[in-house]
Amino acid sequence: NTLGLDLGTSSLKALIVDETQAPVATVSVPLSVERPHFGWSEQDPASWIAACREALARLKAENPAAVAAVAGIGLSGHMHGATLLGAGDEVLRPCILWNDTRSFREARELDDEEGRAITGNIVFPGFTAPKLLWVLRNEPNIFERVRRVLLPKDYLRLWLTGEAMSEMSDAAGTSWLDTAGRRWSDRMLERTSLSRDQMPGLVEGTEVSGRLRAELAAEWGMPQVVVAGGGGDNAASACGVGVVQPGTGFLSLGTSGVLFTAAERYEPRPETAIHTFCHAIPGTWHQMGVTLSAAASIEWLSTVLKEKPGELTGPLGESCDAPGRAIFLPYLAGERTPHNDADIRGVFVGLEASTDRAAMVRAVLEGVAFSMRDCLEAGGGVGSVSRLVAVGAGSRSGYWLDLMANALRCEIVLPASGDFGAALGAARLGLVAATGADPATVMPEPPTARVFAPRAELEGAFEDAYRRYRTLYPAIRDWSA
Ligand code: XUL
Repeated sequence: NTLGLDLGTSSLKALIVDETQAPVATVSVPLSVERPHFGWSEQDPASWIAACREALARLKAENPAAVAAVAGIGLSGHMHGATLLGAGDEVLRPCILWNDTRSFREARELDDEEGRAITGNIVFPGFTAPKLLWVLRNEPNIFERVRRVLLPKDYLRLWLTGEAMSEMSDAAGTSWLDTAGRRWSDRMLERTSLSRDQMPGLVEGTEVSGRLRAELAAEWGMPQVVVAGGGGDNAASACGVGVVQPGTGFLSLGTSGVLFTAAERYEPRPETAIHTFCHAIPGTWHQMGVTLSAAASIEWLSTVLKEKPGELTGPLGESCDAPGRAIFLPYLAGERTPHNDADIRGVFVGLEASTDRAAMVRAVLEGVAFSMRDCLEAGGGVGSVSRLVAVGAGSRSGYWLDLMANALRCEIVLPASGDFGAALGAARLGLVAATGADPATVMPEPPTARVFAPRAELEGAFEDAYRRYRTLYPAIRDWSA
């Protein structure tokens, strides 16, 4: 058996799979987020350990044999968080999370030609390095005691194994990594008054990062198994849905929308606000475009219209038509890719007397599809990926997936129901570390329920509508500035 631990923002999930990767046992323990000031988002690292302890205690109570048979552990976690540790590895302040925006000024300062050249990315306020610059300036007494900075899942690893280690996919989200060379950048560390000895060691996601401490092994009734490097939640999710070969990708329609593609080469394009990070598989990278309001857009409309999202999308059927006249720009919470504009807001355009409720629902779904097309264009463009595995709550709408297939001009594959998330990806990375198995063979795509293919007769209409969509952001940008 292998154990995958996914430290999510709102819960920690533990999943045990057997040698055929079928789920044997799973539990999830909720976590809370503190927002003490506007734009702040923090979590107590002690709550991660408590959640992990509880998860394992429950798994052991429910299925001791499954726990005893665990041969390897893999980790996944929310990215970018700054966990600051002092001389005795004690936690110095609450972890500053990925969605905390207090360090926007410091991010702007680090986001220059040099920062982009070394890291391959825009330095976003959510990333780790600007957070440390903020602590240096606003909490200098804490900054001077910082012995180590760890990412969230790597703090969990320190507790699990006693080793201060990270891996490439999560490290790439700090703005301290030389993303091409897969090593810490002394220069970027120096720009935040830190040095390499304050950073954890680095392994690949599939490599062994340490072994379970004797005390925990005894408590859980399992051997001192290996703990794999693992991955940031997006890279781990990719491993869970089998997106490890160059040219494959997934489309996640959660609150936000993510278009993730695996790549053999390092080809950063920071000017398009796409993320280029190391993959959790050695010698590979990935690109990721993020639209901030995907399912959140349809949830917003459902709140306004007082109907459940499924009641809005259900009547549209499973097959889309050419886009309508009305267009929606889904910038309800600003936009990351391709505009990197936190202040922009959404808009409906092209309303007319005959625009009814269904037309507005369609405009919202189409607007999100075109914002995903923007993410595709920010990376390799149409044709760079031939199929995308659909995940997330939004993938329950066949209509939306058919729209995505036509807007992205690529096959959208809906998996048969099952558990293919970051916890499975983490377990798969644990399996590779424990057995030396080939990642390509242990990380297959999930079984397919349905494939949505673009239709040639709709191509002209979708390309026209996308061209019109693209003219709108420049037209409204000044309004929000
Ligand atoms: C990735 C990102 C989120 C976090 C939290 O850049 O900010 O996906 O990893 O899930």
